[in-house]
Amino acid sequence: TPVLASTREELAGLLAAARRSGDCVAFVPTMGALHDGHASLMRTARAATSGPVVVSIFVNPMQFAPTEDLDRYPRTLDADLEVCAAERVDVVFAPAVEEMYPGGFSHGSVHDGVTVAPGQLATILDGESRPGHFDGVLTVVAKLFGLVRPDVAVFGQKDYQQLVLIRRMVRDLCLGIEVVGAETVREPDGLALSSRNRYLDADQRQVATALSRALRAAQERAPYGVPAARWAAMSVLEEAVADGLELDYLALTSPELGEAPEAGEGRILVAARVGTTRLIDNLPIVFD
Ligand code: PAJ
Repeated sequence: TPVLASTREELAGLLAAARRSGDCVAFVPTMGALHDGHASLMRTARAATSGPVVVSIFVNPMQFAPTEDLDRYPRTLDADLEVCAAERVDVVFAPAVEEMYPGGFSHGSVHDGVTVAPGQLATILDGESRPGHFDGVLTVVAKLFGLVRPDVAVFGQKDYQQLVLIRRMVRDLCLGIEVVGAETVREPDGLALSSRNRYLDADQRQVATALSRALRAAQERAPYGVPAARWAAMSVLEEAVADGLELDYLALTSPELGEAPEAGEGRILVAARVGTTRLIDNLPIVFD
């Protein structure tokens, strides 16, 4: 079973020996409420090193807007520790808010400290719907990187814009960490696993499958070009809109989230609300 560290000092103590011996440290940052998607990241991390695998569990207030679900975000530490144990995680770092933001952090207020500015890429897609969200994500991940000082860090493709931004932060701030992007784990009907899926009732759960069905439909039509792929996705989504889905965006882009290429590799991303639950999904796509 993993050792639980709740302070930075405990964490440093637990990693000291590995650092001295030069072992490779692999890191999986999470907000807890762990599911099979998180577990697959831990498996990737476990396969990447014979040294310690560290998982952090921290619901980061800085990445939630005042209107968002910070207070109702699920907190399931005991079950989370069992998931970590099953994946042979060595250290779980689960700090209190004061430990990560010693100056204090009041939800919704502007954080008074040095933060990471994510740049232009954080103003589109999820960043447009959630202003300030990626400032919060990159700032906390930079702090966690500073505490864990990993050689390898594993993130999910499920949060694709987050993954692209973290790769850019590591490159632009010269952090020297290898970032691995792991594939999205899905339910048998295609719905991407998410801690927020538990908010969906049975009808909403059915409507939610439209996101992954739309992405698959677009993938199938992608050999006929970008407009055909877009049309295929939209026709699936429009049907779900009649059942109460509210579309936030459907975007066809390059792998770096720029303009979609006329031919070659790209990405298709979707965000929608079902009831009060905001869902996102994305897939690689090859245009011809
Ligand atoms: P959280 O939503 O808990 O996700 C933690 C990691 O699990 C992220 O890298 C996310 O992409 C990955 N993940 C979530 N669902 C997945 C799925 N179905 N398949 C594969 N991977 C999945 O993302 C965050 O937390 C936070 O923003 C964080 C990076 C921890 C910073 O606070």
